[in-house]
Order: sequence, then C-alpha cells, then structure tokens
Amino acid sequence: MSDRSTAPHPVLRKYYDRDADRRSFVRALFDATAEDYDFVCQVMSLGSGQFYRRWALTRTGLRPGAKLLDVATGTGLVARSAIDVLREPPAVVGLDSSGGMLQKARRTLTSPLVQGRAEALPFRNDRFDLLSMGYALRHVAELEVTFREFLRVLKPGGRLLMLEISRPSSAISRWLLRVYLQRILPLIARIVTGNANAGLLMNYYWETIVECVPAERILDILRASGFVDVERRSFGGLLTEYVGAKPLRPEST
Ligand SMILES: C[S@@+](CC[C@H](N)C(=O)[O-])C[C@H]1O[C@@H](n2cnc3c(N)ncnc32)[C@H](O)[C@@H]1O
Repeated sequence: MSDRSTAPHPVLRKYYDRDADRRSFVRALFDATAEDYDFVCQVMSLGSGQFYRRWALTRTGLRPGAKLLDVATGTGLVARSAIDVLREPPAVVGLDSSGGMLQKARRTLTSPLVQGRAEALPFRNDRFDLLSMGYALRHVAELEVTFREFLRVLKPGGRLLMLEISRPSSAISRWLLRVYLQRILPLIARIVTGNANAGLLMNYYWETIVECVPAERILDILRASGFVDVERRSFGGLLTEYVGAKPLRPEST
C-alpha cells in the first residue's frame, strides 16, 4: 500500500493477486453467498442483528420523513430496519455492487434497489438526509474516494452512519472471534445450507477485520474528506459505529 493510499486494508494475496482484482473477487464472493447471507448473519449476531441495526439508525437521527441511502445494502438488512422506522419503502434507496445480493433483496424489499459502487454513486448532489453502510467499509477500494462520494450525495446537515466489526484488542477475544468466525460458523453454515462458500466468506471476513487500518485512520480520512462531528462509538470492543455529518455550509478554503 503506498503512503497516499486510503485502501481499508492491504492486498490479501491468499484471495487475489493485485489491488485491481479486489473488486471482482469481492463481487463474486457476495454473489456466491447471497442465498445464505441472512442465515449466516443471524447466527453470527446470535439473532440480535436487526435490533442492533435499527437502534443504531435511530440513535443517528433517522426519523419519519427522512430519505435514506443504504450503501452496500446486500440482502437489505439495514434497509429493512430503516423501513421499520420510516414506514415508507420509497424513502429508502439501496445500492450494492453484487447482482446476487440485490436479487435476494428484491424478494423482501419494494424500495428502489440500484446496482453500483460506493466509490461512484449514481445519484445527484445533496439528495439524502442519512447515508448508512453496514459492514462494508472493509470492502471498498479507497476510503477517501468513497467518503467524498458519501458527502456529495448527502444534504447539508445530513448524517453518515457506518457499522463495522473491529479487531478485538485483547488476545483472548481475538482468539475467540477467530475460532467462531473461521471454525464454528462455517461448520454450522455448511451443515445447514450446504454452501462451502459461506466458509470462504467468513475466512475473508476475519482477515479483513484483522488487516483493516486502525479506527483513528478511518476517523482522520472522514475529516479529510470533509465530514464534521466525526466520532467513533464502540460497543463491547467488537461493534463499531463511525458517524459524521455534512457541514451545513460548504467549508471555506
Ligand atoms: C457484509 S455485506 C453487508 C450487507 C448489509 N449492509 C448488512 O448490514 O448486512 C457487504 C456488502 O457490501 C457489498 N459491497 C462490497 N463492495 C462494495 C462496493 N465497492 N460498493 C457497493 N457495495 C459493495 C457486497 O456486495 C455486500 O453485499
């Protein structure tokens, strides 16, 4: 990774050879696991995932009347939580790079769903009150490019919420999480779904968590991209939320 790079983690050669191959690897991985993604998430979060997503959205200020863009919507887990709050499916727009994930999302969501990339959002400036991205920060190509896009499509004063899983700081918690993600969860997924790719997804998930740039760097890049009121909220040393806001007036240069 060059000094100027804002990639969320270095090239992971076990999975792809060059940075340029990351995008196609990630897309193929999520296409291959779309069918089983909700099940894996349910087990991974011990059934609390949807409650947590909704709680995080309301704490970030989601209220009826708002327009929300859910980037990396996947099968629509964050989008569904947002609709529970807004009670208006057209007020939520989901975007994802994986056609497989979007196909699955279409079975349960009537909201507009768009295939696209976080790094080049196909929306006009100043359109959304809130932008969410759940557990996908580790998958984008460049954080700064992505955050500048987020800023662009948010209305002045609009809020950003990114949910993430962080690398636990204690060795014992790291060991427990690694065993859970790399051994127990893939085994359960293989027995219940018969899909071996769920194991690959969990292995990749773990390595991107371990290799992800530190939280302080992510906060710095958010500020450098133009966000204000940037902060990190942490729960149990594992769940992390990055929040920020678009300034009400353009920053004077
Ligand atoms: C771990 S899933 C998260 C899904 C959902 N947000 C959730 O809370 O469970 C990550 C999603 O990010 C999507 N993704 C990865 N890279 C992306 C990118 N550059 N732009 C848009 N979506 C991306 C994947 O296709 C996948 O659906």
